[in-house]
This record gives sequence, structure tokens and C-alpha cells, in this order.
Amino acid sequence: MIRRMVTNPMPQFPAGFLWGVSTSAHQIEGAADTREPSVWDVFTAEPGRVKDGSTAAVACDSYHRSHEDVALLAGLGVDAYRFSVSWPRVASPGGLDFYDRLVDALCAAGVRPVVTLFHWDLPVALDWLERDTASRFADHACVVAERLGDRVAKWITLNEPAEHTLLGHALGVHAPGRRLMFDALPVAHHQLLAHGLAVRALRAAGAGDIGIANSHGPTWAASESPEDREAAEFYDLLLNRLFSDPLLIGRYPEGFGELMPGDVEADLKVIAEPIDWYGINYYAPTRVGAPHGAEIEFGGLSLPAELPFTVREIEDRPVTDFGWPVVPEALTELLAGFRERYGDRLPPVLITENGCSYQGVDDQERIAYLDGHIRALHRAVEAGVDVRGYFVWSLLDNFEWAEGYTRRFGLVHTDFETLERTPKASYAWLRDLLRAQR
Ligand code: BGC
Repeated sequence: MIRRMVTNPMPQFPAGFLWGVSTSAHQIEGAADTREPSVWDVFTAEPGRVKDGSTAAVACDSYHRSHEDVALLAGLGVDAYRFSVSWPRVASPGGLDFYDRLVDALCAAGVRPVVTLFHWDLPVALDWLERDTASRFADHACVVAERLGDRVAKWITLNEPAEHTLLGHALGVHAPGRRLMFDALPVAHHQLLAHGLAVRALRAAGAGDIGIANSHGPTWAASESPEDREAAEFYDLLLNRLFSDPLLIGRYPEGFGELMPGDVEADLKVIAEPIDWYGINYYAPTRVGAPHGAEIEFGGLSLPAELPFTVREIEDRPVTDFGWPVVPEALTELLAGFRERYGDRLPPVLITENGCSYQGVDDQERIAYLDGHIRALHRAVEAGVDVRGYFVWSLLDNFEWAEGYTRRFGLVHTDFETLERTPKASYAWLRDLLRAQR
């Protein structure tokens, strides 16, 4: 293993900068028998869908061990904990009691609750191809806000509608496992509409400080050739701007509005309802080139030949054990690009996820990854981007979707046999970093 000593002191972030860690309900809670099923329960029950054949029926068992998780958060010294409410649990009798207790425990420990209202675990009766799901989501937001709103510090409507559309509905590698290719676009539109309706519903219920967690990363063309540049531009529109332009400037990138269902102009007014901050999940940039007419395997994905682009390796970079390249400076580039594109329309930014998958508890590679990315973030702050917080993905090793338990993103190791939690070297490193930031 290559050990890299991190020696330079971390620069100070502005006072009030919010440090946190993130998780999501389906990935950690378990106790599947105490709630209604979600599309992920159905999907993982199908043979061959998850790499190690596992399900999230138990996961980290956080439903029964949230006191341990809260103690870990307090020991880490984070300001905030981002977790999601499971929509099927909220819809189950007594389901909100669990979150009520969790929020109380967080507040008692001095950790501010940041709640994501949807992190991919859709109730089985619902379908994002249906417009009505957007209204149902606004109702869900309202129910949660009425119960928890007096203590929640920040609200996140949706987590990564781009991935949920692409992986779940276009490529079929996540739940609900549809392979609709470009016919999946209504799923994007209905989620964006759901976001806008939920922002309004939350405000009507008296809740404030609302944002979204969108995944973004710079797209690098494989070469200067017109074909590669065109393919990269298309990829950037599809994975980045399709989800940020409607929110921040109230329109779809050229050519996409026509592909969306319903009265798109009217919907865009709802989608662009102003938000208090914009959340970005960042992991890595993507190198994109012109298609070469064959299916390719990339980062655990099988990309069909008919896509108008291919994804290429970023050479000369270390990769995580997921195969994702480690490119901290691309985070500075990403944020500078957002500032340039959206100018004053860009509200304050929070990095709502950033992290990496490595094995082992002496996780020096994770320390190097986080150190590099936090420094890159500081450079963006120095360059004038209004970034107000940073959340590590994730507190715990957890159920990593189609990869099952084979990928470990946690600052804390989870033994999936005994459910014992063991803080890794990165946990102590982050704790010390946070102390030095106070
Ligand atoms: C998701 C998380 C996921 C992480 C690592 C993000 O796309 O929001 O749920 O575990 O990336 O893959």
C-alpha cells in the first residue's frame, strides 16, 4: 500500500462553514420488515441484480442502532448529519416516530439534522413515469415537515435525480431496473417537478433552508476532435445541465424541453422555484469521447453501443477500488464553472457528498482523497465561490446499491456479520481536522 503523509496544515474555512457526513435510509437502516416495501426491495430480490446477491434487509441495522450512530457523529464532532427519510417508512404506521426520535437524539448531541426527502427508495406503488408521483412527493414533504420541521436545520428534496433516471430507468442497473434509454427522460422531468412542488409545500408548512443534492462532475473531451467534443458536450448536457439549468435558470438545455411530457413551460416555473442553497455531490470527472459502436464496460456499468458517447479512462491518476479516478482539482474546476455559468443565479453551494471506496480500517488512501478534495474546495472558496459546507459520503460502510456490500465508503467500518462499528483512521483524521477548524 502506498502511504502518503499529509503534513501541510489545512487552511481555515470561513466561520460558520458547515461540516457534516451523509447517509441514506435504504443504505443503512435495515429493519425492512417494519416498513412498506420500496422499489429497491423488489429489485434486490431479483437474482443477478446485486453483485454479491445481497439485500438491504438488515444493512447497518441503523434502525435499531441509531444511538450508536449518533454517538459516532458526536465523537467525530460534525456540525450536521445528512440522512434521508425512507418514503415507504414514512407511509407506514408509526414510521415517523423513528425519525422523530433520531432528530431529538441529534439535537441533544449538538448535531444539526439535514433531511433528504427522497434518496431512491420509492414506494412500490409509485412510478416516476407518472406525473402524479410529483404531487404525491409534495404531500410526503408536507407530512415530514409537519412532524420534524421544528428541529430540522436544512431540507434536501431529492438526491441525484440524474443517477436515479439514468441508472434506474435508462440503463436498468438500479431499481426499478428499467432499460428505457432516452424514453426515461420523463422520469427526470417528473422528479424536477416534484422538487419544485416540494419546495412550495415545505415553505407552506413553515419549513425553510431548502436545497437539493444534484450529482455533478466536469466532463472532459477525450481529444480536441470535433466528434469527441460533440460527444462530451452532449454528455455534459445530459448528466449535468439537464438537472441544473431548469432549477437555476428555469429552462432545459436546447433540444431537451421538446422531449419532456406535459406543459413544460408551466412546469419550469414550478421547477425554478428559488431555493436557499444548491447541493452538489461530487466524486470524479468523466472523460468522454465519440461512440465507437460497441458496448463498453466502465466503472461497473455496461454502456450500450447505441449511446451517442463513450466513457474513457482518465489515465495517470490513482483510482479508488471502485475504479473511479481521484482528481481533486476537478472539484475546483466544477465550482468555478458553476459560478461562471450561473453567476448571481447560483445560491450558496453545499457539497452534500464527496468520498471514496477503499477497503480496510487503516484507510490512508481515503485520508489522502479527502485531504485533496477539501483543499480543492478551499481553493474554490478563495476564488470567490460561495461554498457554505462540506459533507463526507459516508459515515458508515453501507449497502452500496448494485454493488451490495463490496464497496466501502465509510469513515467507520461496519462488520456486516456482527454489525459492529469500528472507526477507521480517516475518522480520527477528520475529527482532528474539524477540531483545528473551530
Ligand atoms: C449516492 C449514494 C452512493 C454514493 C456512492 C451517490 O451517487 O447518492 O447513495 O452511495 O454516490 O456511489
